[in-house]
Formats: sequence, C-alpha cells, structure tokens
Amino acid sequence: MSTIVAPNAIELLEADHREAEALFEEFEKAKDAGDNQAKFEIATKVCAALLIHMEIEETIFYPAARDATGDDDKLNEAQVEHDGAKKLIAEIGKLKPEDPMFDAKVKVLSEQIEHHVEEEENELFPETKKSDMDLEAIGEQLEEAKSELKNQHGIP
Ligand SMILES: [Fe+2]
Ligand SMILES: [Fe+2]
Repeated sequence: MSTIVAPNAIELLEADHREAEALFEEFEKAKDAGDNQAKFEIATKVCAALLIHMEIEETIFYPAARDATGDDDKLNEAQVEHDGAKKLIAEIGKLKPEDPMFDAKVKVLSEQIEHHVEEEENELFPETKKSDMDLEAIGEQLEEAKSELKNQHGIP
C-alpha cells in the first residue's frame, strides 16, 4: 500500500524557489551561447512557474501566514514585491528574445526574485514555523492549487 505524502507548505514553496533559480541559471547559459530560442523557452517557463508560485502564495499561504503571525508589514512588503515581479513578467512577455532589453529585464527579474526569496526563507517562513499555522494542511492546499493552475495553463 502506498500513500502519497504531500510536502509541507515550506518544503513545497522552497522547492519552487530552487526550480526558479535553476531556470535563471539555464537562462544565463543560453544567453552566453547566444541561443535566442532557448532563452525564449526558458524565460517563458520561469515566468509561468513564478506566476503560479505567486498565485498560490497570495491566495493560500500569505493569508494563512497573515492570520497566524500577524506580521502585516512583512506580508504587505511581500505583496509589493510580487506586484513588481508581475509587472516585469508582463513586460518580458511582450518582448522578443533578440530585443536589447530582453536580457536586462530577465536579469533584473532574477535579482528581484532572489531578494524576495531570501526574505521569505530567512524571515517569513521561520516566523510561520514558530506560529500555530498548520503547514501540512496548507501544503496540501498549495499542492492542489498548483496542479490545478498547471493543468489550466497546459504545463506538464
Ligand atoms: Fe515564494
Ligand atoms: Fe513570494
């Protein structure tokens, strides 16, 4: 008999962060190789993954964290950082990979995400671990919402 064990909320979100970092690294390699097609594909992939990640944080994890920690300042700041990332993602989506601003926008997006991820992992996540938040139950909700969004967008 096998049961599927969903990762807890923090594990799931941190795995998403590692995935985004790996894709940004791949992007750098494609850039160095002058491979516009690969750049376009990787950028599309990382932007889609980030949009889903931000969506499940905003609809499930952040509200639960806000309730459990009461740290409005930190969660408001996180939301502003998401809004900034979404703006950049929308701009990247309108550019061709050979556009002179394409690489710059992907680079700045990766830097902003790096900063945001650091704050989540070093400040917000530890706070939620100390709170009475049910990280297992939230993890299940995140997992479900994530696979639903991936299906909607045809992402394997
Ligand atoms: Fe995150
Ligand atoms: Fe976030």
